[in-house]
Amino acid sequence: MNKVTTLNQFVIEKQAEVPEATGGFSCLLHHVGIAAKKVHREVNKAGLVDILGRAGTENVQGEDQQKLDVYANETFIAELKASGVCCGIASEENQDIVVFEEGMSRDGKYIFCMDPLDGSSNIDVNVSIGTIFSIYHRKSPIGEVAQIEDFLQAGCEQLAAGYVIYGSSTMLVYTTGNGVNGFTLDTSIGEFCLSHPNIRTPEDGTIYSINEGNYEKFPVGVKKYIKYCQETDKRTKRPYTSRYIGSLVADFHRNLLKGGIFIYPETNSHPTGKLRLLYECNPIAFIAEQAGGLATDGERRILDLQPETIHQRVPFYTGAKNMMLKVMEFLRFFEKV
Ligand code: AHG
Ligand code: MN
Ligand code: MN
Repeated sequence: MNKVTTLNQFVIEKQAEVPEATGGFSCLLHHVGIAAKKVHREVNKAGLVDILGRAGTENVQGEDQQKLDVYANETFIAELKASGVCCGIASEENQDIVVFEEGMSRDGKYIFCMDPLDGSSNIDVNVSIGTIFSIYHRKSPIGEVAQIEDFLQAGCEQLAAGYVIYGSSTMLVYTTGNGVNGFTLDTSIGEFCLSHPNIRTPEDGTIYSINEGNYEKFPVGVKKYIKYCQETDKRTKRPYTSRYIGSLVADFHRNLLKGGIFIYPETNSHPTGKLRLLYECNPIAFIAEQAGGLATDGERRILDLQPETIHQRVPFYTGAKNMMLKVMEFLRFFEKV
């Protein structure tokens, strides 16, 4: 019989390698797994029950909230609270941080940042969506209620980061800074099972992912890089393939496995970029680097950026090392608009 390693087993085996570990972190990941399974269940019956469509509310950034956005947000918050080790959460769907003021959770060591449902515009059309998360140690003393400063940590302070992709199968991919591992949900036993150990992304990718409908609004360096991707050159396997889903998790996951670059630059309509540093860019950047890729805002390493507000947005470039070096060369050479 093939040996199957479940997510919980894997996490416990890793915990055994850290003598001072108390089990709190493993418990947190266990609850992340439960929340992911609940969201998976709802995503999979989305066409059958009244969960498609808009919730009739807007999130803090004035974007329409979908019913599944709200469901995923509430489910993750409830599971994190139930873990008893997380003292607060910053979510794309909540204007302010959510802090637990009572019970065990108040003294939890960890804080959690999340995009509970990434790719909301794809829900109603049965296209892959995801959840993105990152975990930090709190900075404020245990015994006090979590503070905003606990959440304004640079990405390089992350203890762990991951995403769940609700796709043709549901996968959970995460890193604790010691490589990247992927687990596929086996629905027959209700467990995430190790399917993609030690993921490494190719150094030379052949896919570029960018919303080319915004072409006119891009910085000159990005426009020139797109043209470079489309030119024919056998040695560098160009022209590259263009792929863009519009769910960061799905676009990144494909490029991680196959080799490619994802770009969401600053544009006229989004002068500081569209994607959020805390919930999208930092966790994805941590995973990208751990798999051998790079992630920058075009100039600076994402993980070195000091967040000023929890909902801050940044231009985002991530993917295969050599593609990233090339696009940054273009950005340096051509003046930004
Ligand atoms: P969210 O659904 O969490 O708001 O995120 C949507 C994001 C991201 O997933 C995707 O990469 C990007 O928005 C797509 O934006 P465009 O439609 O502007 O290309
Ligand atoms: Mn998102
Ligand atoms: Mn979202």
